[in-house]
Amino acid sequence: MKIMVINGPNMNMLGIREKNVYGTAGYDQVCAYIKEQGALRGCQVECFQSNSEGAIIDQIHRACFEGYDGIVINPGAYTHYSYAIHDAIKASQLPAVEIHLSNVHAREEFRHRSVTAPACIGQLCGFGAYGYVLAMEALCAHLKEKEQ
Ligand code: DQA
Repeated sequence: MKIMVINGPNMNMLGIREKNVYGTAGYDQVCAYIKEQGALRGCQVECFQSNSEGAIIDQIHRACFEGYDGIVINPGAYTHYSYAIHDAIKASQLPAVEIHLSNVHAREEFRHRSVTAPACIGQLCGFGAYGYVLAMEALCAHLKEKEQ
């Protein structure tokens, strides 16, 4: 199974930004963990990060054209207002799982709404980096169910 893991704006600042909210692990460390945990589950994982909406959209399109089976996406703050990322996920026709390190529902009001989650098969939040593992598992279970 080929999974595209996409991280949005400021995720390259993990380990530096608001450690009390996002933890102390850096972006590279989180990626290594995602890849390692993906491999243990028989998944080939590509990790991509960008601070630009357009680059994220291009990467979602790439996942579609290059035969990926699904997407795990943390759109960062774009979650709350990017209709373009919503549309790109829909356009890809790939199953996507949205993940947030923090429990967005326990935070500021503006984080409670996701405009991108309705384009996904589900959303996970509040479990830190382990959320990416749960998201990959959810994606695998979804794809296996579809195969039957
Ligand atoms: C986040 C939550 C967003 O509200 C925020 O803008 C982020 C990170 C998370 O992983 O908890 O950048 O997506």
